[in-house]
Amino acid sequence: MTDTTPTRQTIVSGFRPTGKLHLGHLHGTLTNWVRLQSEYRCFFFVADWHALTTGKTDADSIRSNTEEMVIDWLSVGLDPNQSVIFRQSDVKEHAELHLLFSMITPTPWLIRNPTVKEQARELGFIDSDDEAAVATIHYGLLGYPVLQAADILMYKAQRVPVGVDQVPHIELTREIARRFNTVYEASIFPEPQALLTEIPKILGVDGRKMSKSYGNAVVLSDPPQEVDTKLSRMMTDPRRARRRDPGDPADCPAFHLHRLYCTPEEIEFVTNGCKTADIGCLECKKIMIKHVLDDLAEFREKRRYWENHRDDVRDVLREGERQAVDIARQTMAEVREVVGV
Ligand code: TRP
Ligand code: SF4
Repeated sequence: MTDTTPTRQTIVSGFRPTGKLHLGHLHGTLTNWVRLQSEYRCFFFVADWHALTTGKTDADSIRSNTEEMVIDWLSVGLDPNQSVIFRQSDVKEHAELHLLFSMITPTPWLIRNPTVKEQARELGFIDSDDEAAVATIHYGLLGYPVLQAADILMYKAQRVPVGVDQVPHIELTREIARRFNTVYEASIFPEPQALLTEIPKILGVDGRKMSKSYGNAVVLSDPPQEVDTKLSRMMTDPRRARRRDPGDPADCPAFHLHRLYCTPEEIEFVTNGCKTADIGCLECKKIMIKHVLDDLAEFREKRRYWENHRDDVRDVLREGERQAVDIARQTMAEVREVVGV
């Protein structure tokens, strides 16, 4: 059974159910989570309510995206014996705490959030950043950082591993914790800090940010042949349009992967070869591709196991739910006591 006695610091992090994960998710988030679980008491959850904040989503795809994503989590090494792995909507207490937090959160705290504004602009909900425009955003999107505060504070987390775009939400979480404690003259919630880690840059095969919606992602569960084909065609330094033209790895999207996967000797070999045009881009990429494929082979084997044991995946979520609910009930008992409901 997972040890949930609060001797270690607590971490909470959530991920929207995006379905099968890609190399960007692996190096941006998952490797870090796997590392953290031996040091911290960890809660990792599928933020399925958050998936609804950007508009109606197909019900079947939320369910299947959740399961596929959790299979990826388990296959990269998230360990249900070390971490509590659950689905947000299985713990209704998050919704109740969100409601109570909404009572003490001034609207201007939401209106000024730069990440929400950017998302709303990207999604086409607004075309300007001024307050009147931002105030037209539906509450689910404008208020999702309040739900996020409930996700985090429910488990009294001290640390939240997230990317820089999420820092405004952690700042809001701290403000809500402080205000709740002040208003209700209780010291129920700690003020959590973002845990920012150095995230290696990973670009998609077209040289833009790796993203499922751009269609430029190397998906972890892609068949090896497909990974090979995608990476073999990956964009390189445009100066190397012809084989005899020298280039610079610093300007090569593929080389970010070399940096992550290759040995120092290979890096040196490739760097020299690129600058002198002694090697071609395909030869160069093949050196990196071999490592990527070796790495993913192990992942694929584990994934095959979970794919064939989907009942076990559901059991993991059910056990995670049980443990999360246990703590959520304790927190809500304290909260209801001071609020008076
Ligand atoms: N908002 C986060 C995202 O879009 C997901 C998330 C929801 C989260 N609740 C959280 C992250 C709590 C950390 C902690 O990526
Ligand atoms: Fe990139 Fe290698 Fe081609 Fe240089 S030789 S541009 S590092 S793929």
